[in-house]
Amino acid sequence: MPVMSTAERWFCQSAPWGWMAGRLILGWALQGVTARGAVLELGSGSGAMAAETIRRHPECQLTVTDVDPAMVTAAQRRFADEPQVTVRQADASGLPFADGSFDVVVSYLMLHHVIAWRQALGEVSRVLRPGGQFVGYDVAAAPLTEWAHRAERSPHQLIGRHELESALSQVGFESVSVRSTVGGQAVRFTAGEPG
Ligand SMILES: C[S@@+](CC[C@H](N)C(=O)[O-])C[C@H]1O[C@@H](n2cnc3c(N)ncnc32)[C@H](O)[C@@H]1O
Repeated sequence: MPVMSTAERWFCQSAPWGWMAGRLILGWALQGVTARGAVLELGSGSGAMAAETIRRHPECQLTVTDVDPAMVTAAQRRFADEPQVTVRQADASGLPFADGSFDVVVSYLMLHHVIAWRQALGEVSRVLRPGGQFVGYDVAAAPLTEWAHRAERSPHQLIGRHELESALSQVGFESVSVRSTVGGQAVRFTAGEPG
C-alpha cells in the first residue's frame, strides 16, 4: 500500500536523506523533547530517523511503524540486530496498539500523507499515556509544497499551521505548540496528553 511516489520512496530510503535525518533534522524536530520510555514513531519509512533516535537514546523502547510494507521490510532489515526496536506495519489513522501504550509519539514528515489525519491525531492521543508527548514536524500548506506534491502525484493533504493547532486541541491535547519554520514551508509541533 505505497502512498508516496516512486521518487519520494527512493529519496526516503537514500543515503543522503539518512545522513541529513541523523545529523541535522532529529534534534531540530524533537525540540528538546526526550525520546524516553516507550516511543512510537509513525510513518517511519525505512527508519532513518529511528536509527538516530536509538543511537542517541539507547535506553528507550522504540516501536517503528509504517503503512507501506516495503518500508516495513526495509526497517526490519535495518533493525534486525536492535532488540529494543520493534517494527510493525500500522496505519496512523487506525493504530494497532492498546490505549495508553506509549510515553512519546513522534511523527516526522508523514502527516501530510495521511488523508484521515484528524483521525490519526485522535489515535495518537488514545495510545499516549497520561502526561505523554506528541512531537514532530511536517511540510505545511504553502504554494511551494502544494506544487511539489501535485507534481509528484502522491496522495497528500497539506495542513495549515492554525488548522493543525486547533485539531490537536480538539482531540484533547494540552500545551499545544505549532510553529511555522523554513519560511512557512514547514511546521514543528509539540502537544501534551493531559496528566
Ligand atoms: C516522506 S516519508 C517520511 C519517512 C520518515 N518519517 C522520515 O522522516 O524519514 C512518509 C512516510 O509516511 C508513510 N505513511 C503515509 N501514510 C501513512 C499512514 N496512513 N500511516 C502510516 N504511515 C504512513 C509513508 O509510507 C512513508 O514511509
